[in-house]
Amino acid sequence: MSVHGKTRRVTTRTLHDMKFHGEKISMLTAYDYSMAKIIDQAGIDVILVGDSASNVMAGHETTLPITLDQMIYHASSVVRGVQRCLVVVDLPFGTYQGNSKEALTSAIRIMKESGGHAVKLEGGREIIESVDRILSAGIPVMGHLGLTPQSIYKFGTYVVRAREDEEAQRLREDAKLLEESGCFAIVLEKIPADLATEVAASVSIPCIGIGAGGGVDGQVLVVHDMMGITQEFSPRFLRRYLDMGDQMRAAVEQYVADVKSHDFPNESEQY
Ligand code: KIV
Repeated sequence: MSVHGKTRRVTTRTLHDMKFHGEKISMLTAYDYSMAKIIDQAGIDVILVGDSASNVMAGHETTLPITLDQMIYHASSVVRGVQRCLVVVDLPFGTYQGNSKEALTSAIRIMKESGGHAVKLEGGREIIESVDRILSAGIPVMGHLGLTPQSIYKFGTYVVRAREDEEAQRLREDAKLLEESGCFAIVLEKIPADLATEVAASVSIPCIGIGAGGGVDGQVLVVHDMMGITQEFSPRFLRRYLDMGDQMRAAVEQYVADVKSHDFPNESEQY
């Protein structure tokens, strides 16, 4: 990973080469400096500053309320914490759907004000003009198909997408369109594993799955979910690597008890 003592950064080109060589891509979300630093040091390939910050950081029910300014705040904090991985930043709801000029202005703000390396947009053919315009400004774009949480009020539910032939066919075509536009990767969220495997094999760009099975080119999870901080969220696709929520609660309970019992601070913890 290191050339002349310098860490070699992950770029969109690296991800392309990883797909070509069959090396899986690891991606996690992060929203702040300290978490991003740990995740980067642990060797992640991509950090997504997801608009899931709206849920896990701000406590909103959906991703819709988060603003561009808030995403820029989260993304700039993450960028300061990383040395190696690629940082992709979600364009939040309402900042790119209006027209392609608005989309470009939003993407430019993200790149200029946060220092992120790429943007992610949800959707296929309906946003292709915006994707083209952002790409023509030299900004790398990641697509996002399948379950697209910014459209939750249109879907009405978070169930698996593209089970029916018509929707599956539309998704196949949208993946091709995003590839042809020049997107460097696509997130496939909560679709049948067979369809995701087929789509990943049909395009030359990496497809990174969440709830899309193991036949894609990489995996992404929301870090609060895989660490066990969001304990109420337990979809089938989620693997928990820690029970951090329980551990943090126990630590705080111990601290409260230590303060109340005059145990903390002790002689060696004071001046
Ligand atoms: O916002 C987010 O965290 C995402 C991932 C679930 C892919 O878009």
